[in-house]
Amino acid sequence: MAQERSIYRCQECGLAAPKPGTCPDCARLGSYVQLVEERVRPARAAARVSTLGAGAPLPLGHIRVEGGEREVTGIGELDRVLGGGVVKGSLVLIGGDPGIGKSTLLLQASRALAERVGPVLYVSGEESAGQVKLRAERLGIAPPLLYFMAENDLQLVERHVAELRPRVLIVDSIQAVFLPTLESAPGSVSQVRECGARLMMLAKRAGIATFLVGHVTKEGTLAGPRVLEHLVDTVLYFEGERHHAYRVLRAVKNRFGSTNEIGVFEMGERGLVEVTNPSSFFLSERPKGASGSVIVSSLEGTRPLLLELQALVTPASFGTPRRTVLGADYNRVCLLLAVLEKRVGFPLQSQDAFVNVAGGGRVSEPAADLGIALAAASSYLDRPVRPDVVVMGEVGLTGEVRAVAALAVRLKEAAALGFAAAVVPQNNLAGHSSYPLEVQGVGSVEEAVKVLLGP
Ligand code: TYD
Ligand code: MG
Repeated sequence: MAQERSIYRCQECGLAAPKPGTCPDCARLGSYVQLVEERVRPARAAARVSTLGAGAPLPLGHIRVEGGEREVTGIGELDRVLGGGVVKGSLVLIGGDPGIGKSTLLLQASRALAERVGPVLYVSGEESAGQVKLRAERLGIAPPLLYFMAENDLQLVERHVAELRPRVLIVDSIQAVFLPTLESAPGSVSQVRECGARLMMLAKRAGIATFLVGHVTKEGTLAGPRVLEHLVDTVLYFEGERHHAYRVLRAVKNRFGSTNEIGVFEMGERGLVEVTNPSSFFLSERPKGASGSVIVSSLEGTRPLLLELQALVTPASFGTPRRTVLGADYNRVCLLLAVLEKRVGFPLQSQDAFVNVAGGGRVSEPAADLGIALAAASSYLDRPVRPDVVVMGEVGLTGEVRAVAALAVRLKEAAALGFAAAVVPQNNLAGHSSYPLEVQGVGSVEEAVKVLLGP
């Protein structure tokens, strides 16, 4: 039989802590309130219950699928990343750096969910009710069925969930809640894991769509969302550069949809705004007639994204030339510079090279290779690439340009944004005849340099 133990609770604000002392939350506001001891009898040590309730094995054909019960959040970009809305009874983890906008996104999502689906309970272990209310007011969010609670003690959260019976539960963040029956501090691996497992059971048992917020900690990723990734149904990461307004929501695991989709948002005065046409967003500040700037097509899931790649190649002052890369893979860029040196004959060994994706974007696809090589060549020669052309193609070590996937959607997006021409891999052109814009096939980097930058 487990022994009784103590937790310490502030009589002023209700904050519960595992250790005695003054209330840190009240202390921040200038009053030093002592935490009062409370005895808790631990629940029987983590009763393990099957969350799936499967019963006897059945032939696949006899299994009844409970009709794809998805709830639409009303935020199109979020719904797409989730696979068409959030599935009833599923556990979704949203990870990301502190301050990136996770709480804002979920607050905005809870508006539509509270209006369409039913009661939404937003549990914050980090911000007080007042703080969240202020933000909600600023964003114009006030649906009657959105409930809010500042609480860290997961057992109390569970009790309130049983009373309120919400359809959607948001826990912000998983690192801030704790089970008083565990010795370790909130945010530790065992707390995060055990709280995650408890919330999983709650979600499955009561059919509550549950969102967990998890901070990614730069150094100690240990107790971060990673320890929960295997447990939850869906893992989304919210990314972006702190100094750029745009944010990308990416699915890295999804039991109910594809992991290729991304959602793009812009953080503004009034919260997150969906960017339904990310390409034009990224290209809006493109300089005219500058050398070293090339537009590439990068496929994110099913969406082709047009991005501006910039390169600056300048004579190295001394010693080993510098290579600085932002938004692309460093080793890939070094490889492409070596290909330009060996196969096209540009003496880049004596040049510093800087490569950047404009607007804080990121390319991860080999299809951007040819664009990177051309941007470097354009800067080295100090000749601009014509502004209305899009470049795509993977580059091999012999300087050959290899085919890319999904050429048709990439060309369609480019044409839709007003581009007049595309330089594409020769191998992609076999068996096609009509294109929405002028298409030039190339077989090698050298040929592409000739086509776009002259002999
Ligand atoms: P937040 O959602 O609190 O981030 P997280 O929960 O991931 O830690 O958002 C934090 C940042 O977003 C904060 O620095 C302020 C900014 N922000 C805006 O620029 N506009 C807004 O309307 C809101 C609500 C936040
Ligand atoms: Mg937050």
